[in-house]
Amino acid sequence: MKLLAISGSLRERSFNTAILRAAQGLLPESASVPIYEGMAALPHFNPDLDVEPAPAPVAELRARIADADGVLICSPEYAHGVPGSLKNALDWIVSSGEFTDKPVLLINASPSFMGGSIAQANLMEILRVMGAKLPDETVFSVPSVSRKIGADGVLDAETSAAYKAALSAFIAAI
Ligand code: FNR
Repeated sequence: MKLLAISGSLRERSFNTAILRAAQGLLPESASVPIYEGMAALPHFNPDLDVEPAPAPVAELRARIADADGVLICSPEYAHGVPGSLKNALDWIVSSGEFTDKPVLLINASPSFMGGSIAQANLMEILRVMGAKLPDETVFSVPSVSRKIGADGVLDAETSAAYKAALSAFIAAI
């Protein structure tokens, strides 16, 4: 199984990226979950540039999503919204359609007790309007994240259990 993990945070010590890294340890060995590293190189979405041939970083993102059996997204919330860099990446996929019928696992992590719930609701709407296969069972949040993940990247028992449940629904959707 070939998956792709996309973090909504560009921060080097991001909690959200760390949660994506933890997926590998919770999945069967046959699954690969590379983390997409190209977010910072994507141009700002501009419909005038959304023509063939697409800008190289955009073509690469589209190919990576098309090639994946499913996509994991883990994102912070900024000012009660979706981080601009992630929204920009998603906007590049609207016309090309790689999210159509693509199984997605969505996680939102935040140090706040709210767990990024406003960005999560918005991301669910965005992904579903783009045609992603996103059942409620493949969505969860990690509130108070700084207390849920160790410096070694290991998740606490409660978060691991929620992650495993979401991953099994995700694999079923694939
Ligand atoms: C935040 N943060 C934040 N958290 C939240 O739950 N709701 C919010 O609206 C915001 N807004 C916000 C704006 C800006 C500009 C910053 C820098 C931060 C806090 C945010 O959740 C926290 O910094 C996370 O640690 C970011 O995720 P990563 O980078 O650790 O993955």
